[in-house]
Amino acid sequence: MSYVKLVFFMLLPFLCQLAFCSSISHLCPKDQALALLQFKHMFTLSHTQIYGILPEGVFHLSNLESLDLSDNPQLTVRFPTTKWNSSASLMELYLSGLNATGRIPESFGHLPSLRTLRIASCNLSGSIPKPLWNLTNIEVLDLGDNHLEGPISDFFRFGKMRSLSLANNNFNGQLEFLSFNKSWTQLEMLDFSSNSLTGPIPSNFYSKSFDVVSLKQNQMEGPIPIQQSLRLLLLSHNNLSGEIASTICNLTKLVVIDLGSNNLEGTIPLCLGEMSELMILDLSNNSLSGTINTTFSIGNQLIIIQMDRNKLEGKVPESLINCKYLKLLHLGNNELNDTFPKWLGALPDLQILNLTYNKVHGPIKASRTGNLFAYENEKAQEKILVCYLQVFKLIFHNINEFAYFLHA
Ligand SMILES: *[C@@H]1O[C@H](CO)[C@@H](O)[C@H](O)[C@H]1NC(C)=O
Ligand SMILES: *[C@@H]1O[C@H](CO)[C@@H](O)[C@H](O)[C@H]1NC(C)=O
Ligand SMILES: *[C@@H]1O[C@H](CO)[C@@H](O)[C@H](O)[C@H]1NC(C)=O
Ligand SMILES: *[C@@H]1O[C@H](CO)[C@@H](O)[C@H](O)[C@H]1NC(C)=O
Ligand SMILES: *[C@@H]1O[C@H](CO)[C@@H](O)[C@H](O)[C@H]1NC(C)=O
Ligand SMILES: *[C@@H]1O[C@H](CO)[C@@H](O)[C@H](O)[C@H]1NC(C)=O
Ligand SMILES: *[C@@H]1O[C@H](CO)[C@@H](O)[C@H](O)[C@H]1NC(C)=O
Ligand SMILES: *[C@@H]1O[C@H](CO)[C@@H](O)[C@H](O)[C@H]1NC(C)=O
Ligand SMILES: *[C@@H]1O[C@H](CO)[C@@H](O)[C@H](O)[C@H]1NC(C)=O
Ligand SMILES: *[C@@H]1O[C@H](CO)[C@@H](O)[C@H](O)[C@H]1NC(C)=O
Ligand SMILES: *[C@@H]1O[C@H](CO)[C@@H](O)[C@H](O)[C@H]1NC(C)=O
Repeated sequence: MSYVKLVFFMLLPFLCQLAFCSSISHLCPKDQALALLQFKHMFTLSHTQIYGILPEGVFHLSNLESLDLSDNPQLTVRFPTTKWNSSASLMELYLSGLNATGRIPESFGHLPSLRTLRIASCNLSGSIPKPLWNLTNIEVLDLGDNHLEGPISDFFRFGKMRSLSLANNNFNGQLEFLSFNKSWTQLEMLDFSSNSLTGPIPSNFYSKSFDVVSLKQNQMEGPIPIQQSLRLLLLSHNNLSGEIASTICNLTKLVVIDLGSNNLEGTIPLCLGEMSELMILDLSNNSLSGTINTTFSIGNQLIIIQMDRNKLEGKVPESLINCKYLKLLHLGNNELNDTFPKWLGALPDLQILNLTYNKVHGPIKASRTGNLFAYENEKAQEKILVCYLQVFKLIFHNINEFAYFLHA
């Protein structure tokens, strides 16, 4: 397969000139383009700058198994309206990031062999057409960043699902069907972020390999699911309430947990500092209270800790000194009452320490502490250490990227 791919990259400039790059009126005769492509099982034209309208013929190549046209936003595709001549063989379609404005064409229902379908960021709208539910062999489906709508429970028809991304659309309904339907036993990743989902988060998933879930930016309610295999759990900007139960520490494989911007209250579970794989812990913008008695154990992997915008009291926990890889510690907008924790300057990687809006006292002024530069802004009640490198973007922005990182 990779050999075929290579040949195609070599042929690309020629092909491009011949078939696609020219303006719409100068397209080469379809049969010529097809003649070139006919012998291929796989066709890749991703990340190029081709533009215009893609001839429908590409979808009719018989024996075509895999087609990758992704990331060509200037390219408009016209899909076959009825039968595709590649329907018997076509298993993988990568069409994300091109222009397929309009509804998902019903003709996709004629591709019974399809295992992977990625059509994210294609400006698609409307509901999923009925014939699509016939694609029962689908394992990987990415419809993210479109304007699609409809009940989320319909997706349960895809019983072999491994990876499902519907992020940034308008799907609605509840997820309770997941709790009583045992079909998604192969599920590894589920991204339903930024939709209009309501109701409780299901507590049971019937997949042993389920490791990435994002439900952030919906209107879902608690409790937090306890699924042993989870490595990445993003639930921020929902309506989770109540306390964070210490059973959360049963998720021993967790690498990222984001519970920010919910209505969580009560204290922070002591055991959270003992989770040996955890790298990112975000509890910001809730109503958590009490002292932070969590003991961060020696050898922990934490890189980011965000507990800002809560009602936390007491001192900055001394065990934070065990977080050797810590880059960002945000405890701002709480009620912490402590002297300035200069000792945190000993953490070699710490880039941002934000203690803004607390009751932190004692002198700091402008000074160097280890690798950090500290400054004080009395007016804003800011006592803050900032690194010279302010460039710090959270990994959360692209869950897919992070999922790949986890799988690597
Ligand atoms: C996308 O396609 C639609 C209709 O086919 C067209 O109106 C629009 O101009 C295209 N957009 C781009 C960026 O090519
Ligand atoms: C599809 O295949 C049929 C015969 O198998 C052929 O007549 C037709 O021209 C093909 N269509 C395209 C668009 O290649
Ligand atoms: C989809 O399946 C239904 C039966 O479940 C069948 O009637 C219909 O023809 C199929 N559609 C396609 C496009 O294969
Ligand atoms: C997206 O689709 C809408 C119509 O649904 C259209 O007005 C708009 O131009 C499209 N955007 C692009 C970038 O093609
Ligand atoms: C589970 O999903 C399958 C596929 O959609 C469906 O046929 C079945 O009725 C569902 N079972 C329950 C209990 O909802
Ligand atoms: C959030 O949940 C509470 C109950 O815990 C409910 O009263 C409230 O209406 C919910 N808010 C939204 C925006 O769904
Ligand atoms: C958490 O793990 C303990 C043992 O480590 C087990 O007894 C308990 O049932 C688990 N709780 C949940 C909710 O899975
Ligand atoms: C904090 O959470 C509230 C809802 O609980 C939300 O409206 C607000 O946008 C959040 N703030 C930030 C900075 O995310
Ligand atoms: C933290 O520890 C102090 C002293 O041991 C105790 O008084 C307090 O109740 C504890 N707070 C929490 C939230 O566990
Ligand atoms: C520190 O936190 C405050 C509020 O919590 C925020 O406004 C400010 O931008 C943060 N500063 C840095 C450098 O992140
Ligand atoms: C901070 O704690 C000290 C005792 O450790 C207490 O005297 C002081 O009043 C507290 N400050 C605030 C602003 O609560």
